[in-house]
Amino acid sequence: MVAGPALARGKGLQAQEGSLALWTEALSVGVPEIDAQHRELFSRVERLLEASLRDDRSRVAPLLEFLRDYVAVHFEAEERLMLEQRYPGYRLHKAEHDRFARDLRAMEAELAATGPTGDLAGRVDRGIAEWLRDHVYLTDTALGRFVRSLEEAR
Ligand SMILES: [Fe+2]
Ligand SMILES: [Fe+2]
Repeated sequence: MVAGPALARGKGLQAQEGSLALWTEALSVGVPEIDAQHRELFSRVERLLEASLRDDRSRVAPLLEFLRDYVAVHFEAEERLMLEQRYPGYRLHKAEHDRFARDLRAMEAELAATGPTGDLAGRVDRGIAEWLRDHVYLTDTALGRFVRSLEEAR
């Protein structure tokens, strides 16, 4: 399972504490296309969390499937931007994407094979929602700062 950096916890995301997976301005990257995709991702992850908390198995599978496809589109958009802008952190950033996509596929395959197990909600929260918060808050905002600094220098 994903062991994303827990650094973001308690560092400015306190407003989110107690909520599910909510997008806030603190998570803004400053690139409109990317921010729009993040909002969509957070809203889908929130629905997935709700469904898994209620153990609503008929909703979990299609939500995971949507997420897998949408995440692929989103990661591709960020990776294209990084290549276009010759972002020095490309390799590390892409490695985080690849690992998450792999974990998501593994979770989906496991669910298809055995059905949701007892701690599904906990795994969705830690493996998906927390990863997304940490990745956006730390890794994507760093990319956003880089892109904006290039724009300002023009
Ligand atoms: Fe992102
Ligand atoms: Fe990213």
